[in-house]
Amino acid sequence: MKLGRLNHIGVATPSIADSVAFYRDVMGATHIHDPFDLPEQGVKVCFVDTPTDSSGLGGMNGTQIELIEPLPGNTSIAAFLERNPQGGQHHLCYEVPDIHVAKAEFEALGKRVLGEPRIGAHGTLIFFVHPRDMGGVLTEIMETPKEGAH
Ligand code: CO
Repeated sequence: MKLGRLNHIGVATPSIADSVAFYRDVMGATHIHDPFDLPEQGVKVCFVDTPTDSSGLGGMNGTQIELIEPLPGNTSIAAFLERNPQGGQHHLCYEVPDIHVAKAEFEALGKRVLGEPRIGAHGTLIFFVHPRDMGGVLTEIMETPKEGAH
């Protein structure tokens, strides 16, 4: 495994609308994307951009916050919100150059990869690794978007 960029921090929330207001009004976020549904994963997501440096002059290409709200019928995020009614930090997502290579590497180390790679919120392949094999952190591994893609 070659550690890549921290692409985003997943934050579960009972209300993306309320969380967007929080990141805008309390945290001063200026680049908040439109929410969209990911029906295959039973969630609505919304990305909040952070700048690459504290001046903001480096652009808004820093690590994102991924707000995650369960769609009706979702079980895993809904269960998380039952334990954490306000929402909270849900996962970390690191980029890798090749998703299949990364999956084989984690499996060779005996880490439990949860399901086959599938298209994630950025349109590239992702998988999750079980938190019990990752120091308690649910970890998403994501193939880096190709240059120019979003
Ligand atoms: Co994510």
